[in-house]
Amino acid sequence: MLVALLLLLALSNAVRIDADGGQCGSNPTLNPRPHSVSILEFGAVGDGKTLNTLAFQNAIFYLKSFADKGGAQLYVPPGKWLTGSFNLTSHLTLFLEKGAVIIGSQDPSHWDVIEPLPSYGRGLEVPGGRYQSLINGYRLQDVVITGNNGTIDGVGSIWWELFTSHSLNYSRPHLVEIVASEFVVVSNLTFLNAPAYSIHPVYCSHVHIQNVSISSPPKSPYTVGIVPDSSDSVCIEDCIVSMGYDAIALKSGWDEYGIAYGRPTENVHIRKVYLEAFSGSTLAFGSDMSGGISNVLVEHVRILDSNSGIEFRTIKGRGGYMKDIVLSDIQMENVYTAIAATGHCGSHPDDKFDPNALPILDHITLKDVTGTNITIAGSFVGIKESPFTNICLSNITLSTNSASTITWECSNVSGFSDSVSPKPCRDLDSPSNSSSSCFSYLLSITEGQTAVL
Ligand SMILES: *[C@@H]1O[C@H](CO)[C@@H](O)[C@H](O)[C@H]1NC(C)=O
Ligand SMILES: *[C@@H]1O[C@H](CO)[C@@H](O)[C@H](O)[C@H]1NC(C)=O
Ligand SMILES: *[C@@H]1O[C@H](CO)[C@@H](O)[C@H](O)[C@H]1NC(C)=O
Ligand SMILES: *[C@@H]1O[C@H](CO)[C@@H](O)[C@H](O)[C@H]1NC(C)=O
Ligand SMILES: *[C@@H]1O[C@H](CO)[C@@H](O)[C@H](O)[C@H]1NC(C)=O
Ligand SMILES: *[C@@H]1O[C@H](CO)[C@@H](O)[C@H](O)[C@H]1NC(C)=O
Ligand SMILES: *[C@@H]1O[C@H](CO)[C@@H](O)[C@H](O)[C@H]1NC(C)=O
Ligand SMILES: *[C@@H]1O[C@H](CO)[C@@H](O)[C@H](O)[C@H]1NC(C)=O
Ligand SMILES: *[C@@H]1O[C@H](CO)[C@@H](O)[C@H](O)[C@H]1NC(C)=O
Repeated sequence: MLVALLLLLALSNAVRIDADGGQCGSNPTLNPRPHSVSILEFGAVGDGKTLNTLAFQNAIFYLKSFADKGGAQLYVPPGKWLTGSFNLTSHLTLFLEKGAVIIGSQDPSHWDVIEPLPSYGRGLEVPGGRYQSLINGYRLQDVVITGNNGTIDGVGSIWWELFTSHSLNYSRPHLVEIVASEFVVVSNLTFLNAPAYSIHPVYCSHVHIQNVSISSPPKSPYTVGIVPDSSDSVCIEDCIVSMGYDAIALKSGWDEYGIAYGRPTENVHIRKVYLEAFSGSTLAFGSDMSGGISNVLVEHVRILDSNSGIEFRTIKGRGGYMKDIVLSDIQMENVYTAIAATGHCGSHPDDKFDPNALPILDHITLKDVTGTNITIAGSFVGIKESPFTNICLSNITLSTNSASTITWECSNVSGFSDSVSPKPCRDLDSPSNSSSSCFSYLLSITEGQTAVL
């Protein structure tokens, strides 16, 4: 009876995103799903001890039959639902009620091992395969992972220990990974303690991540919040992300594998986010960027207590590009390095990479940035054979602390600046003119969107 009532209250949603894609110009229109079942109907037990992998797999297998009937919802009521990894299906809404916690099994044997992603060629941490993520999608259409602030908890400590002690047999799993899918919504949930990444859309189009809170402890090794990877038309908004390594990292494949796969991350809009990154960067681009990253707009960002605020990372051998990226309206507090771009960051998957595959960093605009208690204002270390170009800094005020000795560091970089304090190095000091390369592409990135710059 109670379950039936909750089901009615939680009538779920199918996603339809307007023509401008998964970018933030329009909110996803969520249509109710005509069918809904509770995980209880598949024998799940929410005691935090019973393993519910089969219940999730059976429920989703059953709901597959509703895919051509408007889709269906899998309702997860309050309780602690321990599970190994499971796969979603198309036209499905996974809804976690308030007080519902999906908990990842602590036993690696409950996590399937799968092939590496083709754009990476191998596991990120250990050559060969990788553990499948807790919740997976592969070649899906119209998937919604949402709720009334339910929680997905990866209980990452066992994975962090295996990683730190070099005892992993395969690369660590993520919490949610959606591969080669379209029209994906993740909203109104809390994600905790990811083994590695929290939300990883890869080879996807039209992804909307809204109003989620993501955290892992500061000391958790290389944990990352949201990782749009070789994906396009992505919106991330109204999110709070606090991670051990990076908060939001845009990627697109690794060296020769990423170059061969050739799928960029593009048309990404990130706004109204509150970010913390203990040992990495709150907004990171690369270092895996071999398929290219372009047309990215980031605005209304608050950054707190982090090693680095904004960081572009690459290395010779990556190929690819990071270009036409605008970041504006950013407030930072207690950040060691406010803005960084480095051409000497990252490792190679194997010795088959092409050292002559030079990455490009071009047309990056940062404007309306303030920072307090900053140690290094900007560090731009480009690549001799492929210098960073058209870096445009405008209206940036960073107050540095007493530990600050070098405020700006520049090599193999060129660009413009206007109203920047402290005064940047000479390479970035030529005055910008707004009709120049600095902002001219803004028009194309905002076309069809409500964003106002
Ligand atoms: C889940 O999907 C992956 C492909 O992404 C597949 O290899 C695996 O067998 C699927 N697992 C189940 C239980 O269906
Ligand atoms: C965000 O999610 C919470 C529940 O997690 C909900 O109460 C709130 O209304 C949501 N806010 C928006 C703007 O969707
Ligand atoms: C959502 O759940 C998390 C963890 O259970 C809690 O810390 C947070 O306060 C909740 N947020 C809202 C808006 O209810
Ligand atoms: C890794 O493989 C070894 C040898 O097969 C095995 O003893 C160990 O339990 C495995 N570790 C994990 C975390 O599965
Ligand atoms: C999030 O929750 C709020 C409050 O229940 C609801 O109005 C909104 O539609 C939800 N958003 C998404 C994208 O699920
Ligand atoms: C200044 O920022 C650093 C991190 O770079 C932090 O350790 C320190 O506590 C901050 N100082 C104050 C006064 O908040
Ligand atoms: C400079 O940036 C601040 C916010 O950091 C903003 O309030 C101000 O309007 C900007 N000034 C100009 C001239 O755009
Ligand atoms: C470019 O980088 C190389 C090292 O990669 C360095 O030796 C050289 O001085 C740099 N050139 C400039 C102009 O900064
Ligand atoms: C503006 O900057 C561009 C790029 O440096 C330059 O080619 C152009 O001559 C400048 N225009 C004016 C009016 O200064």
